[in-house]
Amino acid sequence: MITSENGVFHLKTKNYSYLFRVNEWGVLEHLHYGAPVLSEDAGALACKPGLGWGTAIQLAEGEPKSCLNALALEWSGSGRGDFRETPMELRDAATDFRFESSRIVTGVVPMQSALPQARDAAHTLEVVMAQKEAKLHLFYTAFDTVVTRRAVLENCGEEPLEFSKLMSFCIDLPGCFEMTTFHGTWNAEMRLHRQAVTGGAVVNETTMGCSSNAHQPGFLLSEPGASENCGVVYGFNLVYSANHYASAQKSHQGLTRVMQGINPANFRKTLAPGEVFETPEAVLCWSDEGFGGVSRRLHDFVNRHIVPKAWQFRSRPVLYNDWEGCLFDFNQARLLDLAKRAKKLGCELFVLDDGWFGARNHDKAGLGDYNVNKKKLPNGMSGLADKINELGMTFGLWFEPEAVNPDSDLYRAHPDWALTDQFDPLYCRNELLLDLTKPEVRDYIVQSVTGVLDGAKISYVKWDMNRPSVAVGVKAHEYILGLYDVLRRIFEPRPEILLEGCASGGNRFDLGMLCFAPQIWCSDDTDPIERLTIQENLSYLYPQSTFGAHVSAAPHSMTLRNTPLTTRGNVSFFGCLGYELDLKHLLPVEETEIKAQIAFYKQYREVFQFGSFNRLSDGEKTLWQVSGDHLHIAGLYHKLVHAAPGYERLRLTGLKKDRRYHVTTRQQSIRVGPFGALIKHVSPVNLNPNGMVLRTADRHMTMPDGQENFTASGSALHTGVMLMPLFGGTGYNADQRTQGDFGSNIYVIKEEPLHEGN
Ligand code: DGJ
Repeated sequence: MITSENGVFHLKTKNYSYLFRVNEWGVLEHLHYGAPVLSEDAGALACKPGLGWGTAIQLAEGEPKSCLNALALEWSGSGRGDFRETPMELRDAATDFRFESSRIVTGVVPMQSALPQARDAAHTLEVVMAQKEAKLHLFYTAFDTVVTRRAVLENCGEEPLEFSKLMSFCIDLPGCFEMTTFHGTWNAEMRLHRQAVTGGAVVNETTMGCSSNAHQPGFLLSEPGASENCGVVYGFNLVYSANHYASAQKSHQGLTRVMQGINPANFRKTLAPGEVFETPEAVLCWSDEGFGGVSRRLHDFVNRHIVPKAWQFRSRPVLYNDWEGCLFDFNQARLLDLAKRAKKLGCELFVLDDGWFGARNHDKAGLGDYNVNKKKLPNGMSGLADKINELGMTFGLWFEPEAVNPDSDLYRAHPDWALTDQFDPLYCRNELLLDLTKPEVRDYIVQSVTGVLDGAKISYVKWDMNRPSVAVGVKAHEYILGLYDVLRRIFEPRPEILLEGCASGGNRFDLGMLCFAPQIWCSDDTDPIERLTIQENLSYLYPQSTFGAHVSAAPHSMTLRNTPLTTRGNVSFFGCLGYELDLKHLLPVEETEIKAQIAFYKQYREVFQFGSFNRLSDGEKTLWQVSGDHLHIAGLYHKLVHAAPGYERLRLTGLKKDRRYHVTTRQQSIRVGPFGALIKHVSPVNLNPNGMVLRTADRHMTMPDGQENFTASGSALHTGVMLMPLFGGTGYNADQRTQGDFGSNIYVIKEEPLHEGN
């Protein structure tokens, strides 16, 4: 609900109130974003500057309440006495927009540009601010768990209007905060950093042309002392995939100014008379239930209002992707062999990754030429897709449509289509980006991709993009508008195709892409121990239904770490499960384990993908819990083990304290090979740990690992129930967890039905 009474605007749902007002100078004063309150609380919540602070500029002399620098504002300008960071810079001049009008409309106000936006809201408030030659339209949309904001600048004058900065929103939150941001690089995405916000602005920004793995656009502001489940935390994000900027700065008066939008670096744009410029939609979320509370509200928002409607709460298939198994080395026979194996294991979707077109036999050639390589696929794409379909699997395909190799027919025909600047071309992974600001380039991409999609039965697309951009400022923005146009033209008429976003892994994990792609490849690093960090930190901002999470070979190609197959599965379960390794080389025991993993995941995938997510990790171990109505699943992961380990408890959350729950462990088995020389102590004959007998046994034989099977009340599970012991070096039996380094377990916790008399 949104109300506007006596100059007080109130966005209100059962989860929050967002309150601001127009003061007597036409300035928008921020009053409150937090727990639901009454509109009548406006006066109590407003800043009270009293006699003001010395040397402060006042809009009206002798009126401390008109001192912009001391007020909590919803927007600000420059050169008019507010010396905190400004959300807009216009024509190297002062800016001073004042309230003109407002209206409340049903639903969302559609973007006029190609920018994507959240859908299906009840109401939007538009506040129009004006200064002589320009208008600023501030849009506020009230979703159940978040507020979204965006700003639109309109040139109402007779002259061109130049600007170099226009944020999507600006807000002054009373209080002190710590800012949590996520930084990284290829293969090491989403490293969490937390720092205090003080008088100097803390900035989170990228100029890479993509939202980037270097600086994820989503961030959090928490009150000092906030924890996973307690305390006030705000979450912010941008429905945008190019250069972003955000800052937080605390003022002397104890107000924290926060803003986010398109990065102003090199940004300079001129609006013709009558022209408008739209900023991307920003998402603001509040919770007083700590980081977990804000994450769950953001998850709900993404699942309901961001991902395409056709995929809203729709199960994602278990996929097999040939990339890590084959790289560029495949033909139809090899693919079909893999597909048969994948089908036997339980996979539902077979994805052919890079290398199927043009001269793309390595990453130096062919990008841009989407004609099927007939040497590899003699029956064409439809021939392959039909055969995969006949096996009972759907078929998906990889593209990197935004890029071109100089060694390609496309580049030879249209060298001017590459995105360049006045300097020598700069390559990355031997490729250039195509200039998506050009309509003919966008048409080419739409035609070549849809030509392939409509020529074969394709139900999934992986949309890759493997390099930072050389486009700066406005060009980077126009490029991303071009991409959104292309995605809309290809996928809106084909809503049944499941699109997975990918940019060398997580280089474009953002809300803009999620408006088109319900899931995104988190990282090329599929080492499960690395994924514990990447997926856990992504979960601060995004739901597990959006994580592409695959089981790959061990030792891992990025870390050389050897991890148990069970743990690789147990980590990938908390996302959209896939397999990405050469199935031909699986041992019989590994085939058995993968079959069991897929069957288990299918049984519980709703709760894995869409259940509410809880981070329960501590310094020693990672613990994740997903919860549905009467079913909870927990994943418990160890890193390096210690000798003679002590007791370990399983401590869950969100259960009904007075109900009983049945707890079981997903049955896991133990390989005999890793016991090496120890085997001779239990076997009647003295076996060589590297000998044939033990190697053969290791291929075919496993021993059952300990499996919990007990009932306990929700209250006991909250307190922490005792788990069976970890291997302590004193022997093996099936009542302990015999796991070694990087071991893990999955616990299924089912609420027991109420019996009569209960
Ligand atoms: C980078 C992606 O992240 C990988 O998964 C794979 O698709 C390769 N590109 C293919 O070139």
